[in-house]
Amino acid sequence: MRSLVNLIKRYGEYVFVAIFVVLSTYALGAFLTAGAANGTILPLQASREAVEIDELFNVQFWLIAFFFSLIVVFMLWSVIFHRRRGEDDDAPGEDFEGNSTLEIVWTIIPLGIVLALAVYGGSVLSNIERRATDALEVNVIGQRWAWRFEYPESGAVSSDLVLPVDRQVLLRMRSDDVIHSFWVPEFRVKQDLLPATFGDEDNTRELRITPTIKGDYKVRCAELCGELHYAMLADVMVVEPEEFETWAAAQAAECDLEAADCGARWVEQYGCTACHSFDGTQVVGPTWLGLAGSQVLLDDGSSVLADEIYLETSIINPNDQIHEGFQPNVMPVNFEEQLTEEQIAEIVAFIQTLGE
Ligand code: CUA
Repeated sequence: MRSLVNLIKRYGEYVFVAIFVVLSTYALGAFLTAGAANGTILPLQASREAVEIDELFNVQFWLIAFFFSLIVVFMLWSVIFHRRRGEDDDAPGEDFEGNSTLEIVWTIIPLGIVLALAVYGGSVLSNIERRATDALEVNVIGQRWAWRFEYPESGAVSSDLVLPVDRQVLLRMRSDDVIHSFWVPEFRVKQDLLPATFGDEDNTRELRITPTIKGDYKVRCAELCGELHYAMLADVMVVEPEEFETWAAAQAAECDLEAADCGARWVEQYGCTACHSFDGTQVVGPTWLGLAGSQVLLDDGSSVLADEIYLETSIINPNDQIHEGFQPNVMPVNFEEQLTEEQIAEIVAFIQTLGE
């Protein structure tokens, strides 16, 4: 009994410090992990990958909470209880040689933690990159400032990303101009899209996602890519497999409507609306309201009638004639490869319905 009292007298301070470290770790760790789980810190976990990534985050949260507490509690304890008091305030401190045991301990422990985290992180990475044999392939093409999704399995093309729930999707990504980055916060994973002309290798990048919760999300571009970077968004819809099949078949179907109505469909699918409005609002490109049939002022001071030929040329070779007040080299120059002649004619027909 007596020795226990002595022990407390001698080490009481350390016990207090240890208790405070534990309490502070618990408070911080619980706050962070609870916030991650209930959506106040991290968004909804809407993919299989998100669950594993968040678990890795949580382990790191707890470790960070512990080391933060250890350092801060020790520091406060030293500052408050062991400060120099009295008249010898300015006297130099005691000489103090190193402590090899301590140095070895504080080298070994962090090394062990870093190695363990590396192994754990590696296993999470290999899990989220695991290939499913029935993965749905989607080509993702980014260009300033729109997304296009092509479904080789069905032939569908869309500016929305529609995905069946609980089936792995293999996204093959590339950019048609500068670097963009595909990011859906609810899926957690993120991947840069590289221009095909970056060096001479194949710059297509792959990303695998298994959406697990039906709902509407947004693709955000996470790489600064110019004036409308902030508006480079696409809708993501995770739906039942049957609903997905119906949607894909409709997107892939031939267009048997009037030319202008087919044009309206291509405009939607190929993301033209990212830069051109139908209502007179000037975005990055000229509005289409009242465009066809009007006299267009060009940046060299001349003017031209916006007839069929002008509209068609502006789609195929957008830099030939620059509308006054707009920038050259903004509109993609590869629509001749992306669209058939018929599709271009139908888009022109659609633009004409918005004319004067
Ligand atoms: Cu594309 Cu930012």
